[in-house]
Amino acid sequence: MIVLGIESTCDETGCAIVRNGKDILSNVVSSQIDLHKAYGGVVPELACRRHIDVIIPVIRQALEEAQLSLEEIDLIAVAHGPGLIGALLIGVNTAKGLSLSTGIPLVGVNHVEAHLYAALMDLETPPFPCLGVVISGGHTHLVKMHDLGQYSLLGQTIDDAIGEAFDKVAKVMGLPYPGGPAIESLAKEGEKERYTFRPGRVKGSPLDFSFSGLKTQVLYTVKGANARKDSPLVISPSDQAHVAAAFQHTAMSDVVTKSLKAYELHACQAIALGGGVANNRYLRQLFEEKAPHIPVHWPAPALTLDNAAMIAGLGYHTFLKKGADSMDLEVKTRISLAS
Ligand code: KG4
Ligand code: ZN
Repeated sequence: MIVLGIESTCDETGCAIVRNGKDILSNVVSSQIDLHKAYGGVVPELACRRHIDVIIPVIRQALEEAQLSLEEIDLIAVAHGPGLIGALLIGVNTAKGLSLSTGIPLVGVNHVEAHLYAALMDLETPPFPCLGVVISGGHTHLVKMHDLGQYSLLGQTIDDAIGEAFDKVAKVMGLPYPGGPAIESLAKEGEKERYTFRPGRVKGSPLDFSFSGLKTQVLYTVKGANARKDSPLVISPSDQAHVAAAFQHTAMSDVVTKSLKAYELHACQAIALGGGVANNRYLRQLFEEKAPHIPVHWPAPALTLDNAAMIAGLGYHTFLKKGADSMDLEVKTRISLAS
C-alpha cells in the first residue's frame, strides 16, 4: 500500500510517500525557520501563509522524487492534530481536496503518536510494551505504548514543553531560533559544573515535568536577580557557555531520570524517543551512560523533526486498524494520546 502523508501542524510543511508503513520513497520538508527567526519563535499567522504558498509544490515534489503519479497512491494520511489551528486546517483541507477529487481514501493521524512511531518505523517487531518519550517544541509526554494505537499517558509537562524552554532560554541569552541546536553548540564550550540549577518537580506527580522555574533560574543567572527578559546580560561570554551547559544538563537529566523511573514502574521492554529535542547528542550520551542495559530507539535524523514520512508510516497502520475517515475529519488543536 502506497501512502501519501501530509504534515502542517506547526512550522514545517511536509509531504512524503511511504510504502507499507516503512519504505520511504520520498520525504520532502519545507522548513520555515528563516521566517520565524526574527521573532525568536513561531508566529502562527505567518506560518499559515507560508503553508498555503508551499503545500502544493511540496506535494508535487514528493510525488516527483518517488517517481509516482497521484493515481498510484492508495491512501492519503494527514496530521489532524495536535497543532496550530490555522496550520492544521491547511493540511487537512488540502488532503480532503485531494481525496475528494481522486477518490483516494483519507485517514487522520495524531502528530504526537507519529513522533513515537518514527523511532520504531524500521523495526520488524516493535518492542511493546514500550515507553514513548515525546520531546519537542510543543510536547513533553511520557507514554506507555501497549501497541500501536493503544497508549496510557504517564506524565506530561504542566507548563512549557522542553523544546519551548530551550527556545525561550536561547532568546533570553541572545541566541538564534531554534534555541535547541544553539544551546547545544554553546554548551560544548562550557562546563556544566560551574552552575547548579534545580529541575522542576510537580508535587504528587513524580512523572510530570515543569520547565518554567528552570527557565527563570537561567534568566536571573544571566541577567541578575529579578531581571526582565529584555534586561541586558550581566555575565561574560564564557560564563554564558557554562550556563548553557548547566541548563542543558539539568533539563536532559530530568528527562532521563523520569523516563527510567517510568520504564521501571510500568514494566516496559524498551524506550522510544521522538520529537525535535531527540536530536540532542548530550541527551543520547546521558541515556548511554545511565541506561546501557536498556534498548533505546531513536528516530533516523530525517524523522526527528516534524516530517510527513512519520505521518504516512503511521497512517498505514491506522487505516488497517480503523479504516478510512470521512470528509467530516476534524482538526484538533489538542488530542489525548490515552486510548
Ligand atoms: O518536533 P519539532 O520539529 O516540532 C514540534 O513538534 O514541536 O521540534 C522542534 C523543537 C524546537 O523547540 C527546537 O529548539 C528543538 O526541537 N530542538 C532541539 C534540538 N534540535 C531541535 N532541542 C535541543 N537540542 C537539539 N539539538
Ligand atoms: Zn512535532
